[in-house]
Amino acid sequence: MQIFDRIADLRSALERSRRAGRTIGFVPTMGALHDGHLSLIERARAECDIVVVSIFVNPTQFGESEDFALYPRDLERDSALCERSGADIVFAPPVNEMYPRPMETVVSVEPLGSDLIGAVRPGHFRGVATVVSKLFNIVGPHRAYFGEKDFQQLTVIRRMVEDLASPVRIVGVATVREEDGLAMSSRNVRLTPEDRVAARVLSQALDLGARMIEGGEGDVEAVLSAMRGLIAQEPRADLASLDIRSSNGLAPIETIGQEPVVMLITARFGKVLLIDQREAAAP
Ligand code: PAJ
Repeated sequence: MQIFDRIADLRSALERSRRAGRTIGFVPTMGALHDGHLSLIERARAECDIVVVSIFVNPTQFGESEDFALYPRDLERDSALCERSGADIVFAPPVNEMYPRPMETVVSVEPLGSDLIGAVRPGHFRGVATVVSKLFNIVGPHRAYFGEKDFQQLTVIRRMVEDLASPVRIVGVATVREEDGLAMSSRNVRLTPEDRVAARVLSQALDLGARMIEGGEGDVEAVLSAMRGLIAQEPRADLASLDIRSSNGLAPIETIGQEPVVMLITARFGKVLLIDQREAAAP
């Protein structure tokens, strides 16, 4: 496995593979890798000739009061995990390689980027779409892999690629969970032991909602209120948002018809904001 920190060096290494007709799979990450990230790398390994993983804690997607400086960084550990999962190349640029001067060009996917999590984190999805678009230009992947856990991010990236006719196929990968159902996240280690146990309620609420929808409940408000009731029984959970939207594009809906839907939860446990999602469809 090779590790690059300069755009030019990565490009010349990939140019040879591209000319030889090899397919390039790309997994963008911010490091602090866990089994969720590794499942994306393994999927890319199974489907592509060359697997590139980027590790870059992107400052432009963090708000002023957010934890950019505190985000865990351990390139040695992360590279070893990438290698074990079958990556060929790790791209880990310093901030001044990605942003040698302030960006005057940004990619903004609206109104989706200001909806839901974008309403709580203004500018977040502009930062994500801009860095992912720049990484796509650097790597030139045939396929790029994103987790369904960050369902809105996946939707933003799909829309960006369609709008800009980017020559890359976006692949969504199912959420990897802990044994008790909690979605894996680099933030989980910041939960207190009590909050870690309490956080199970998120996947339990999603399971409840899915059972109702799959059992034929078509009224969005009825499903939401049952889910809210379950979460309210856990005093440590501070529910920030709960939504049911169309899976395709995240448009608001009032009744659940033939189109699959996605339930999206954001909740605080202490200072830690967790997100989770699950898709469901009427019987
Ligand atoms: P990061 O939070 O490091 O996540 C990298 C990728 O791993 C994302 O596509 C995310 O959805 C996926 N992922 C995280 N937890 C997962 C889980 N439990 N199961 C499956 N996949 C999971 O998302 C970002 O970084 C950044 O916004 C990025 C796209 C790299 C742009 O900076």
